[in-house]
Formats: sequence, C-alpha cells, structure tokens
Amino acid sequence: MRKIYIFDTTLRDGEQSPGVNLNTREKLEIAYQLEKLGVDRIEAGFPAASPGDLASVNAVARAIKQSTVIGLSRSRVQDIDAVREALKGAADPCIHLFLATSPIHRKYKLKMEKEQVLETAQAAIRYARKYFSKVEFSCEDAGRTEIEFLCEMTEMAISEGVSVVNIPDTVGFLYPHEYGNIFKTLKEKVPNIEKIQLSAHCHDDLGMATANSLAAILGGADQIEGTVNGIGERAGNTAIEEVAMALETRSEFFGAKTSLALSEISRTSRLVSRLTGMVVPGNKAIVGANAFAHESGIHQDGMLKEKTTYEIMSPETIGLKESKLVLGKHSGRHAFREKLIDLGYTLDEERLNLAFAKFKELADKKKDVSDGDLLAIVEERLIDT
Ligand code: KIV
Ligand code: ZN
Repeated sequence: MRKIYIFDTTLRDGEQSPGVNLNTREKLEIAYQLEKLGVDRIEAGFPAASPGDLASVNAVARAIKQSTVIGLSRSRVQDIDAVREALKGAADPCIHLFLATSPIHRKYKLKMEKEQVLETAQAAIRYARKYFSKVEFSCEDAGRTEIEFLCEMTEMAISEGVSVVNIPDTVGFLYPHEYGNIFKTLKEKVPNIEKIQLSAHCHDDLGMATANSLAAILGGADQIEGTVNGIGERAGNTAIEEVAMALETRSEFFGAKTSLALSEISRTSRLVSRLTGMVVPGNKAIVGANAFAHESGIHQDGMLKEKTTYEIMSPETIGLKESKLVLGKHSGRHAFREKLIDLGYTLDEERLNLAFAKFKELADKKKDVSDGDLLAIVEERLIDT
C-alpha cells in the first residue's frame, strides 16, 4: 500500500479563513492535537506576516517532535530569514517557498516574464537551501499555468535540491481529470522526478477540493495538503479527514493510505471548530453532526438489521461512539420501539401503537423529537392507559 503524506495547513491556510485569528496558545493546542492525529507535516504559519505569527510558529516548532514543522515564505530573502528565525529549535524544520507561475499572476501581480519567475524562484531556493535541508517549493496558481512551464519550474526546483514540489490549484478552478493529468505529465516528462515528492494543494471554490486531491493521488501525487474541517481561504481547502477516510474506505481502489490515527479525527475536528469559531455544517462529510445520523424509517429499519446497509464507514473509526437514529416524521415503528427500549420502556403492542400515533402527531410539528419529548409522550400514555 502506497503511503500518502499529509501536510496540514490548518494553522496557515486554515487561519486565512476570514474572521479566524489564532493566538499562540490556541495554535499550540491545535498543533499538539495534529501531532496526535499523526499528520506528517504541520504548516504552522507565515512568519513574515506579523511578529505574533513568527512567535506562534516558533512556539509550535519548539513543542512538536513527531511531525515536521513548516513555515511559509514568499520567494524573498526577508521572508526566508523570518522562517529561519521562527523554526529555531524545531526537531525537523522545513521551509515552504512559493512564487506564482500562471500567466494571470505573472502579468498582473508579479509583472514578470517567465524567465524572471524562474530566476527569482531559483535564487530563493538557493538561498533557502543554505539553511534548510528540507525545502518545499510551490508554483502558486499552478492550476492555471502552462504545463510546459510547470515542467520547467519543477525541473529547476529539483536541480536546486528541493524535497517537495507543490502544484496548487490556488483558485479551485480545475476538474479532477485535468488536475490528475498534471501529475501524470510531470511524472512522465520531468527528468529525475523520482528524487522529489509531488504535492497536491486544492481549494474548494467549485466544491471539488477532495475529488481533485484524490485525482492527484491517482495521477501520482505523494502528498496531500489540506486543513481540518476544510477551513481556509474563501471556500476553504481540501478537508484532510475526507481524503484520509476516502483512502481508508476505498483502499482497494486507490491502493494508498495515510498514516493518520483515524480515531482522532472527530476530536480534532471539534477542537478546530471550537478554537477557530468556524461551525462545522451538520451535513459536512465525515465530521458533520449528521454524517452518521439516520432519520427515515426505511434507513433506520435497515440500520437496525445491518449497519452496512446505509453506512459505508463506521463512526467508531473516526472516534465517535455510535451512529444516531434521529427520530422525526420520516421515522418508523421499528426505530421508535428501539429508542423507547433504550430509554427504559418496553411497551406492549397496544401501548406502542398509541404512543407511536402521538409521536407522529408531534413529529409533524417539530424537526427533531428529543428524548425529553419521547419521555413525555410515553409517560403520559402510560398514565392514561
Ligand atoms: O493556495 C495556494 O496556492 C497556497 C500556496 C501558498 C501554496 O496556499
Ligand atoms: Zn492555499
């Protein structure tokens, strides 16, 4: 089984979510949990962004021992020096350099020709390599960059001794087959490509970050970058829990797995949500409150007979206790009876029928019928009869 490395950027790209601002204590708390989750690499921040971020990255660098700690840097000396400062004391430091490569960014943002982009990146990598044995280089907006230029940039980065080349779909523009093909082409065309790892970094503007990341794996990517709960710039980044569980659930298809401690997923998700203030939508894959909840009578009946009828993964895998059968207007007698048994009531057929009719009346008026509602129904019924 091929190992897929997980590069977590919750503390950097995730923190770029509008309205999110993590202090050093919060970054440390998340970093410790990411280490427990078993992510291979933690991007702790962007040290040149502010003295506070430099200090936070340094605190994470000194605390974390099992994961590589990474600082982000533009392709300029001052940024690289800030990362040098921030990663002092790290057990396994790595600098993440980036420069935009797409025609749009070259023309409007950088005002550079291709040759200048290549030279600027080369000079930055050379400078960074004096101080770091591990350098990742990202071709920002790779998704909208000419494939020949991406090959050229990658070849240059390899010859300058980087460990990882990242191919970000910065604006979440690509469809899975297009993104996967970039990795295939780089693997086929770039000399010495086996010397480095290729990394995928996707944004979710069209809701395809996870699909694109999985397509990258099929195309030959070694590393996936993403965040917990998929938080990040605009519509967010790839949710690492989605990639890990897709590989786990469909391992026969992908032939690849992460080494995440999957049972830590749920706890990590709750912690990130609490500290960032970004509420996880109920229907969010893997970690949403409804991801293992079943409401319709047909589904509940199937679940009570055999869980695999409606669950492709078990809640225990991600550290939850059990699936939830939510009682609402679509629920059936089977689930209703089981729920009452859980609450300590085993009713005979006649009483069950009366209580079920009362429950359906209530369920028509309320979205969710709580345990308290059920107790009220059943106790009133029992007293009545
Ligand atoms: O989305 C992006 O291109 C980035 C880079 C800094 C890697 O976050
Ligand atoms: Zn990004």
